Amino acid sequence: MPWEWDVGEGLKKCNIQPSVDQTLPELPQPAACLMSEEVHRRAIEIEEKKIFREKERKKERLTMIKLAIVGCGGMGHTHAKAFSAIKDCKLTAACDIIPERAQAFSKEFDIPYIYADMEEMLAECDLDAVTLVTPDATHAPLALKIIANGKHILGEKPLATCYADAKTMAEAAGQAGVINMVNFSYRASAAIQRAHQILAEGKLGRVLHVEASYLQSWLSSKAWGDWRKSPAFLWRLSTGHGSGGVLGDIGVHILDFATFAAGDIRSLDCQLRTFPKAKGERVGEYRLDANDSAVIMVEMESGALGTIHASRWATGQTNSLRLRVYCEKGALVVDLDKSWDTLDICRGSDVDKAQWKTLKCPKTPTIYQRFIGSILSGQNDQPDFARGAKVQKMLDVCFESDKEGKRLRV
Ligand SMILES: NC(=O)c1ccc[n+]([C@@H]2O[C@H](COP(=O)([O-])OP(=O)(O)OC[C@H]3O[C@@H](n4cnc5c(N)ncnc54)[C@H](O)[C@@H]3O)[C@@H](O)[C@H]2O)c1
Repeated sequence: MPWEWDVGEGLKKCNIQPSVDQTLPELPQPAACLMSEEVHRRAIEIEEKKIFREKERKKERLTMIKLAIVGCGGMGHTHAKAFSAIKDCKLTAACDIIPERAQAFSKEFDIPYIYADMEEMLAECDLDAVTLVTPDATHAPLALKIIANGKHILGEKPLATCYADAKTMAEAAGQAGVINMVNFSYRASAAIQRAHQILAEGKLGRVLHVEASYLQSWLSSKAWGDWRKSPAFLWRLSTGHGSGGVLGDIGVHILDFATFAAGDIRSLDCQLRTFPKAKGERVGEYRLDANDSAVIMVEMESGALGTIHASRWATGQTNSLRLRVYCEKGALVVDLDKSWDTLDICRGSDVDKAQWKTLKCPKTPTIYQRFIGSILSGQNDQPDFARGAKVQKMLDVCFESDKEGKRLRV
């Protein structure tokens, strides 16, 4: 189910290398004085083979990342497609608390090992990295176990369900020295990367006004299926199941998207709304109390003002992200409904004519490619857990602002 844009699409099919034999023969230990020439020669041969295999194994560790996917649901499929298209990565284990789900998943993606328990997997399986694709409330406890086992980790967004947990995760990953990234998947848009660059270089002057939105319609439309019938929709509507509502689910993306390009937020005033949607506001075990519309008025560190908003009631918009940034000497618009790799820009002589030009932006790697690249190079790319924690702080302040009904400093 395409919850958000499937950024794994369009990558080349993988080219998995055959794994090197792990069983190395022991070097015989003959008494030196009794060793015949033949035995001596064989011993040297065996030792040379051993050194060769050790070298191969080291090479394999450096060039072939053994990855486990934890959580085989909707987004787990997007991860599996994206990672299996990366030639330096081998899908090694699939883990889901619903064993049949892990089984079907492993069949679909040709994954050799299946687990229903992540700790068992970490104890038994030879892995380099884990991608964590479970519901939001499980991110912090599971990620801390993955980190404690010394595995590199790609965590789904939101990094946690509160800033304190997100900060603990970022610190733990830093101390363990593992590569850590958070899947702000829209960073794979060439347009947002170019917008970030143009604004950081100050080419359009000071940012004065920002407008950003992430709009979905699955509460008012069946374009993605009936939300009443699927746990994957229902846990997102229930705080008891760890959901931060539309704010935690997609508000987190648009906060990252907007502030990555237009700079940090100094203060904000947020209003959240949960609209009536079912008898007794409940479906089975799910109490439908999570917010489904969020409007945030922001003051940026630059002094700019702006609005950032998200909704699941935006009829006619299945999955629309848009950012408009107005500056002293120009303006730019990123609209992912229109294009992932172009942006519209108004600058120079176009300003006085209110005309826009379309700018083609250079291709940028996906988060999945950045993650594998980071493991291979040893250099942690962005967005890392520290960035995930920073965005989590914005979410916490939004909840607090809504509760207190006032503008708060971030
Ligand atoms: N970055 C993005 O663009 C993007 C898009 C969609 C979803 N997500 C995130 O991905 C995560 C998963 O979302 P989804 O839509 O795939 O949900 P989902 O409900 O479809 O799938 C979650 C899976 O995790 C399994 N699971 C739950 N607890 C587990 C545990 N302790 N160990 C192993 N497996 C466990 C469930 O059985 C289920 O199969 C969420 O955090 C969501 O916010 C991110």
